[in-house]
Amino acid sequence: MEIRFDAAGVSFAGRVALSPLRLTLCERRIGVIGLNGSGKTTFAKLINGLVKPTSGHVTVDGLDTVSDADAVLGKVGFVFQNPQNQLIMPGVAEDLAFGLSGRGLSKAEIAARVEAMLASLGIADLAARRVHELSGGETQLVAMASVLVTGAEILILDEPTNQLDLKNRRQVVDAVAQLPQCVITVAHDLDLLADYDRVLVFDGGHLVQDGAPADSIARYREIAAC
Ligand SMILES: Nc1ncnc2c1ncn2[C@@H]1O[C@H](COP(=O)(O)OP(=O)(O)OP(=O)(O)O)[C@@H](O)[C@H]1O
Ligand SMILES: [Mg+2]
Repeated sequence: MEIRFDAAGVSFAGRVALSPLRLTLCERRIGVIGLNGSGKTTFAKLINGLVKPTSGHVTVDGLDTVSDADAVLGKVGFVFQNPQNQLIMPGVAEDLAFGLSGRGLSKAEIAARVEAMLASLGIADLAARRVHELSGGETQLVAMASVLVTGAEILILDEPTNQLDLKNRRQVVDAVAQLPQCVITVAHDLDLLADYDRVLVFDGGHLVQDGAPADSIARYREIAAC
């Protein structure tokens, strides 16, 4: 897996949200931190093409997020800051099954994959629940399952533990820890990133630190103290 930013930057209506950056990511666990409005979500959305670069290019395993947008979307799953908005079917199992439709799979095969996915995240008991009745942590886990069941190789989590109690936070942390996929986590919950391979710090749309978690978290604390 290789994510490459080739002088990729984003401006919204002439305002710079992310200054052009050159960067190659290939680690299994990557964290992204910084103050509110520093460009974290914009950076994350560039990786699966939800935001298009207004300068430069972003590629995922050589696929361009603009010209190969569909292939990139199939490779890179995104769990939003507010994941209740991304569960589109009324029931949990239905929502996962929807992501597998149109692939020529039998009903039985789809049901088996959905069941296995829910079980692997420890939420098999949620299969028959209505998505709008789920708690915040349950919603987070179901959204993750819905993204992963489609075969995403890279999972982007935008503040996955926001608003979660300690118990649900632990469930999300444990579920993420056992994923074989590459995970990119945007977080204000800095403890989540303690054992990550690499942590990026953004400030005012600039990448200002890129390294080990302890160094990056120290840099972020300096920025936040100003
Ligand atoms: N679609 C958009 N249109 C215009 N401006 C935008 C858009 N998306 C983001 N911005 C602006 O770009 C900047 C970076 O936003 P971004 O969402 O990337 O920040 P963030 O670091 O994720 O913040 P937070 O921690 O609050 O989620 C902000 O100034 C924001 O207002
Ligand atoms: Mg954000």
